[in-house]
Amino acid sequence: MTYQNLLVASEAGVTTISINRPTKLNALDRATLVELNALMTALHADPSVGAVIVTGAETGKRPAFVAGADIAAMKEMSAVELREFARLGQATFDLIENAPFPVIAAVNGFALGGGCELSMACHLRIASADALFGQPEINLGIIPGFAGSQRLPRLVGRAKAVELLLTGDAIKADEALRIGLVSQVVAPTDLMTTVRALALKFAAKAPVARKYILDLVVRGASMPFSDAERAEADLFGLVGATEDVRDGLAAFLDKRTPVWKGR
Ligand code: COA
Repeated sequence: MTYQNLLVASEAGVTTISINRPTKLNALDRATLVELNALMTALHADPSVGAVIVTGAETGKRPAFVAGADIAAMKEMSAVELREFARLGQATFDLIENAPFPVIAAVNGFALGGGCELSMACHLRIASADALFGQPEINLGIIPGFAGSQRLPRLVGRAKAVELLLTGDAIKADEALRIGLVSQVVAPTDLMTTVRALALKFAAKAPVARKYILDLVVRGASMPFSDAERAEADLFGLVGATEDVRDGLAAFLDKRTPVWKGR
C-alpha cells in the first residue's frame, strides 16, 4: 500500500512510521488519520511486526513530531464533521494503544494538541531535547478531541493535567521527563539511534510473551485490580503452553540462546 502523508520503513521486525506533511509541521488532517488507521490495521494482522516507531518526518523548518490536528481543516468543519473527526482520531489512536506490539513515540520537536495525543497513545515516549509538549486547544477556544483529556491525567495525574489543559502552555522535554510524560530525553542527533535500539530489543523478545505483557498492561489499567490479576494468571497459564516457553526454559538450563517461534 502507498501513502500520501506517511513514510513507512520496515527492517528486522521494526516498522517506522513518519507522519509526513512537511509544509504543515506534520499536522493531522482527516486523510492522514485515515491512512494511519489503515496502516495500523494492517500491522495488527502482520505477525512479523515486533515493534513500531512513530515519529515526525523532516519538515525542513523547525523539527516537528506533529504540530496538532489541522487547524485550517477544522475551521471548515460542521459540528457533525468535527465529531466524526474526533471519533476517527480516537479510533486510530486506540489502534496504537491496543496494538499487539510495542509502539514507541520518537518525539523530535513540536508535539502539540493532536501530536501530544498521538504520542500519549504510544506505549512510551522518548523525546529529543528540543521537543515541546502541550495541549494548546483552549487557546483556540476548542478542546482536545483525540482523547487528550483522558490520557493526559492518566499519565501525569489530575493536577498537572488540568494545569496543562487549562493553560494551554507547552512544556519542554526536561519538564516532560520530570512529570513522567516521557521516559527518556536524548540529544536530537541521538533520538532515532536510541529509539531504534530499544525497538530492536523489543522485537527480539519472545513474541507471545511480549504480546501478553502489553495486553495486560494496557487492558489491566481499566479493569478492577482483582480481575486484572485473574487475567494475568490466565495468560501466565496460556503462555506456559507455548513452544517458546519450552525452548526458553531449556535454553537457560543448556546455557544457550533460545530461538523464538512465536507459538
Ligand atoms: N494545523 C495546520 N497547520 C499548521 C499547524 C496545525 N496544527 N501547525 C502549523 N501549521 C502550519 C502553519 O499554518 C504554517 O503554514 P503556512 O506556511 O502555510 O502558513 C506552517 O505549518 C509552519 O508553521 P508556522 O506557524 O509558520 O511555524 P512556526 O515555527 O512559526 O510556529 C508552532 C510553530 C508549532 C508554534 C505554530 O505553528 C503553532 O502554534 N501551531 C499550532 C499548534 C496548535 O495549536 N496545535 C493544536 C491544534 S488543535
